[in-house]
Parts: sequence; structure tokens; C-alpha cells
Amino acid sequence: MGKSSVYNSDVIRSAIVPVAGYGTRLLPATKSQPKEMLPVARKPIVQYVAEELAANGVRQILFITGRNKSSIENHFDSDPELLRILKSANKRDLLQELEFEDLEVKYLYTRQRQQMGLGDAVLCGENFAGEEPFVVALGDSILGLHAQSRSVSRMADLFVSRRASCVIAVEEVPIEETRHYGIVHASDGEGDSDTYRVLNLIEKPRPEEAPSNLAIAGRYIFSPLIFDMIRRITPDARGEIQLTDAIRMMCEEGKRILAVKLPPGEKRYDIGNFPSYFETFVEFALADPVYGAGFRTSLERLLEDKTRQALK
Ligand code: UTP
Repeated sequence: MGKSSVYNSDVIRSAIVPVAGYGTRLLPATKSQPKEMLPVARKPIVQYVAEELAANGVRQILFITGRNKSSIENHFDSDPELLRILKSANKRDLLQELEFEDLEVKYLYTRQRQQMGLGDAVLCGENFAGEEPFVVALGDSILGLHAQSRSVSRMADLFVSRRASCVIAVEEVPIEETRHYGIVHASDGEGDSDTYRVLNLIEKPRPEEAPSNLAIAGRYIFSPLIFDMIRRITPDARGEIQLTDAIRMMCEEGKRILAVKLPPGEKRYDIGNFPSYFETFVEFALADPVYGAGFRTSLERLLEDKTRQALK
């Protein structure tokens, strides 16, 4: 194990995972169930998030929940009755599917009473974080195919070694799509070609106004300083307290904020809208070790049929 992995597992053990949003862009699927519990191939999205965090050294996760979110708590609880039934039926393969219950992670829950934006959701975790740095991982975003990402570990190493106040994961997006993302204004010169100093953040800029094509990718590491910033910012026009505004305030106060680009081939899968959700589901299903090959054959056949019909 390299020195850098010791850093992050020693220092950054806590993560806040906000899951309280309404998920209106996925209605009616999200009318009575959390978008974070929608399946992508075999697992609910939030399980990928928890597994990724555990693999990156996180040992306690605080979910910021809200109304209609109790299925998230149920999912991470062990279910002795189900285990007993599967054991007595000798269903080893199915028991294996429940092994995520044995992750070395403690799950805690608190409620955001009103959905007042991501900044407000993170503020709900202030007592949990205490004086320690912590990860924020959006509950509707998966990093890497089947959540194989180690970016949070890398971010944690940089947070410690560069004495940063905040490290943000970013990914390159096509410049014509910047209006869908928080975009960073960054300068090079942080040593590594994938690491930048953040000078400012712009929420959903038009392409001609975008300072770069580096979009915030749903993972952050913060010093507890962020809570003061969140308290000090004013809500936006919709009455929401935006996390990006609080980070911008950190920039303005001269704090060291770094951005780390996801490694080549590692994508951020945001399942908050239908096109992206459908695409993510198909990509994960195609990569399924058991069902992927069969699914690929069915999909190819389906596409050929559709093409043939369209040509008639
Ligand atoms: P989004 O802005 O994508 O979620 O927040 P949303 O508000 O549920 O989406 P729409 O626009 O209505 O479809 C990203 C993450 O932050 C959480 C969400 O649950 C999601 O995981 N969030 C957002 C909160 O926990 N609280 C909030 O007030 C807002």
C-alpha cells in the first residue's frame, strides 16, 4: 500500500450523501420512491455510491434523507428473515447478492426537513462531520462503470498533501453541453496534468460564456469551513441554497480549491434525467458479467428489426 492510500484512509473516513431531492425530472417513477433507489442493471443507484465510498476508505456515511426516502434505510438494514429463508433454501448465489450488507461502513440518517437545495442538505451534516474533513457524494451519481472509481482516494490524498480547503472531481464535457453543468474556471500549474487550481465556478453557463469544459462530477472533499460559507450565502432566485455558491465564496476568500479530472475512461453517470438514466442502465447491463452477452444479442436483434422496419 502506497503512502498516499494511508493518508486518505487515516484522515477522511466520513461521507455525506444527500438523497433528499424530489427527483422531479424522473416523474412519475419518483412519485413515491426515491430516484436514488432506481435500479441500474442489478443494483439501486445508492448501493453503487455506498460501495464506491467504502472502497475509497470511507467508514461512515450520513444520508441526508427526506419524505418518501425510507426505502433507502431499509435497503442498508440487514434483513434476518430474508437471510434465513435464503440460507434454508441453500440459495448461495442470492446470498452473495446481499454481501454489500457486510461492508465495513456505518450508516446514519438525518432528514432535510425542506428541500432547500444541495447546500442546505450538506449543512444538515455539520454535527456529523465535526472538525474533520469529509466527502460529499451525490446520491444520484455513480462514478465509473460499476462504481469502480478510486477518484475519491486520489482527491483525499491531494486534499491532505496540498493542504486544500476543498477538492472537486471534474469531468470533461462537450462544450455545447455546458449549460447542464456547474463549470469550473481553473488554472493549470498544480503539478499534475489532471489537477487544477479552481479560480471560480459558474452554474450552467452558455457555451460562449463557459470558462472551460470541466464540469463538477458529483464528488467533493471539504474542510468543515464549508459550513460557515453555506450559512453565509443567500438563497438563489428559487429559494435554494446552492453548494456551488458556497464554494465560490471559498474561492473569493482565497482558499485553496483544487479540481481533479476523472481518469481517462472513467465516467460520471448522472441518473437525474431520463436520457442519462436510460443510457446508464443499458451500459451497465451490457457490462453485466452474467447477463451482458445475452442482453447484447437481444439489443442488436431489436435494433436490426427496428432498422429493417424503418427501411420498409
Ligand atoms: P438534484 O438537483 O439533481 O436533485 O440534486 P433533485 O432536486 O431531486 O432533482 P430534480 O431537479 O427535482 O429532478 C442532486 C442530489 O442532491 C440531493 C438529491 O437527492 C440528489 O441526490 N438534494 C438536492 C438534496 O438532498 N436536497 C435538496 O434540497 C436538493
